[in-house]
Amino acid sequence: RPVDLTKLINERIREVPDYPKPGVVFKDISPLLADHTAFAAVVDAIVAYYGRGTIDKVVGIEARGFILAAPVAYHFGAGFVPVRKKGKLPAATYAESYDLEYGSETIEVHQDALVPGEQVLIVDDVLATGGTAAAAAELVRRSGAEVAGLSVLIELGFLKGRDRLSGLDVHALIEG
Ligand code: PRP
Repeated sequence: RPVDLTKLINERIREVPDYPKPGVVFKDISPLLADHTAFAAVVDAIVAYYGRGTIDKVVGIEARGFILAAPVAYHFGAGFVPVRKKGKLPAATYAESYDLEYGSETIEVHQDALVPGEQVLIVDDVLATGGTAAAAAELVRRSGAEVAGLSVLIELGFLKGRDRLSGLDVHALIEG
């Protein structure tokens, strides 16, 4: 992690206290996305880590993961595949559920989006408890494709999400 990339990113992430609920400090990446230098540097850093030509498909996780995953896919010359919250994808899907603090969440991928043998990179903005990423990795595996890794902009290390992702190459640009 080059020092100035870390600094560039950190300076453009806005911390919003008590959002979406009291006690939570929300990491708002919109100032970073609005800055063309920082946005491009983030996309380039993810692409450089894996190298062009190594990835067949990039999976973006709804919603902020889409914003990062699409330009990453473009730079790889790879396809983009959305993983969405339950009920949003129109055709036949695979679904995976995971527990939240209160209740549970289900995410889906189209059954024909990934092809067995493909190398797939999963991209999201934040790795928190790891539940979303673990479920996304399981969706990729159920499709018969291989998870090359998970790239996130921010890893909230204190939540130990990485521990739920054993065997996965987890690449974070900054720790928050
Ligand atoms: C956030 C974030 C990740 C997920 C990480 O998405 O963008 O996808 O939570 O949390 P976890 O590691 O604890 O699973 P959110 O559910 O807020 O969805 P949104 O991007 O559609 O608002």
